Amino acid sequence: MCGIVGIVGHSPVAPLIVDALKRLEYRGYDSAGVATIEHGALARRRAEGKLINLERRLTADPLDGTIGIGHTRWATHGVPNETNAHPHFSDDVAIVHNGIIENFAELRSELEKDGYVFSSQTDTEVVAHLVSRELRRGARPVDAAFRALKQLRGAFALAIMFKGDDDLIVGARNGPPLAVGHGEGEMFLGSDAIALAPFTDSITYLEDGDWAVIRRNNIQIFDMSGEPVERLRRQSIGTSFLVDKGNHRHFMHKEIHEQPEVISHTLGHYVDFTNGTAKALDLPWDFAKVDRLAISACGTAYLAGLVGKYWFERLARLPVDIDVASEFRYREMPISKNSAALFVSQSGETADTLASLRYCRGEGVPIGAIVNVRESTMAREADVILPTLAGPEIGVASTKAFTCQLSVMASLAIRAGVARGHIAKGEEQVLVRQLAEAARLATQVIKLEDQIEKVARDLAHSRDVLYLGRDTNYPLALEGALKLKELSYIHAEGYAAGELKHGPIALIDENMPVVVIAPHDRIFEKTVSNMQEVAARGGKIILITDERGAANSTLETLDTIVLPDMPEIIAPILYALPVQMLAYHTAVFMGTDVDQPRNLAKSVTVE
Ligand code: AGP
Repeated sequence: MCGIVGIVGHSPVAPLIVDALKRLEYRGYDSAGVATIEHGALARRRAEGKLINLERRLTADPLDGTIGIGHTRWATHGVPNETNAHPHFSDDVAIVHNGIIENFAELRSELEKDGYVFSSQTDTEVVAHLVSRELRRGARPVDAAFRALKQLRGAFALAIMFKGDDDLIVGARNGPPLAVGHGEGEMFLGSDAIALAPFTDSITYLEDGDWAVIRRNNIQIFDMSGEPVERLRRQSIGTSFLVDKGNHRHFMHKEIHEQPEVISHTLGHYVDFTNGTAKALDLPWDFAKVDRLAISACGTAYLAGLVGKYWFERLARLPVDIDVASEFRYREMPISKNSAALFVSQSGETADTLASLRYCRGEGVPIGAIVNVRESTMAREADVILPTLAGPEIGVASTKAFTCQLSVMASLAIRAGVARGHIAKGEEQVLVRQLAEAARLATQVIKLEDQIEKVARDLAHSRDVLYLGRDTNYPLALEGALKLKELSYIHAEGYAAGELKHGPIALIDENMPVVVIAPHDRIFEKTVSNMQEVAARGGKIILITDERGAANSTLETLDTIVLPDMPEIIAPILYALPVQMLAYHTAVFMGTDVDQPRNLAKSVTVE
């Protein structure tokens, strides 16, 4: 996901913009740039790769100017190189953009007929020329921007600067988030509150369809019909998280180790450990009357929802319909107002998940958003926010957000079970007491890291890896494979263990490590049979189990990672930890960019 920063200030802005872009690095990017108005003219510096390359460019050739815009680019149209890096210029206009202009091809062809020459392959450059063309037609800068915005289709967050006015940035938002930061005699624009943290904690989030005229001492916000609108100015909590890695080598490592604490914080928000009850939350639905629960999300968040399906159906006898959001949003699922819908998202900005939320809202379904960013778009558009209290998750690979999402799901499923009369008071107290064990046991699981690092050393030599699991361990098998793929770039596949003999067993040979996630639970014996099928064909098994499972598994394995015995309700939360650590250490051995793996963004705000 691209990052945007703008400053209408009173001191040289280029270094401030670069610092703010550094706070957006976690979103993932492949090039960067800054533009200012310097001595009455537009000037820019751009660089491929990491921000350090842009800083070197600026050191060698500094930029002056007290107004500027900056950008970290996650390529959608055009290869990641300096030519395609933002800001893009057209005559007297400079622009940075996050999103996708869906009608850029037709606009580009029209502009080329009007004599505009394109220097990049990006959709963004179209917007710069559109604004420039309106200026040539006699419009003043603000009107030129507005007229250009109305010609766009697609998702965009934009910052536009004009050579002739060093007290003006126009910001616009349709999809990807954009926030205005209020300073003293200066104004800021950024993709989120974390970017603006060093400047201000007074933030106004633009809504979809808003565009803003930003000057040092004044901001005006309008909707797409040109009518002025009022937006809430709030104190952002994003500024309180001045995140850094501490003594960890990577953010991801830090975030893995934060899990005992944040799991405990999150559970404490949803269950009363003292009375042994799942808190009666102020929900826009009555679990006792809901006929179906729809769940939708992407990636790791989707897999949290998949675990949740097992819990809601087993503990509350509540049917769950779950789908990845990119499918959900176009399925046109028949869903009644007697249903409820949950959308799971760390960022709260994932385009497909947001579109799925809006589909359900259109159907009149009450909506809950399980999000880690309370100020996110999903949080603002849901009927109830169900926060994960994971703190900012900077590593692109989601870890602590996932286990906190599971913590929320487990608590909600217990709450639903009580409301629907399937969990008696006594059982509720037992389950909540078992949830209370999660943080302590997570600390014990993390102590297995040294052994897991040794297993990862071997795994790093693999070309393909298979992950197997049954029941709630099946989504964990999918998550383990996703983590390994996205961090180490090794091909990995997660499969329901019972499905092995229906095809994937053809893959098994001595070169295919098979990671089996199998606590000694209700279907452990079934999974043992699957492991025997693997071993019989020379497959190398890495078994992740508990003391009882290790004692009962008669199989020769390549490695066995033994977790403490634990209650079934918390196993999916804690068995996520070894698969996270396995993927992390494999990636470290592979030398990949662990916190910002290639091609990935922290939040995908485009389709
Ligand atoms: C997780 O490790 C991935 N980086 C990715 O699958 C992520 O979970 C997905 O893009 C959803 O993001 P969200 O939780 O911010 O919606």
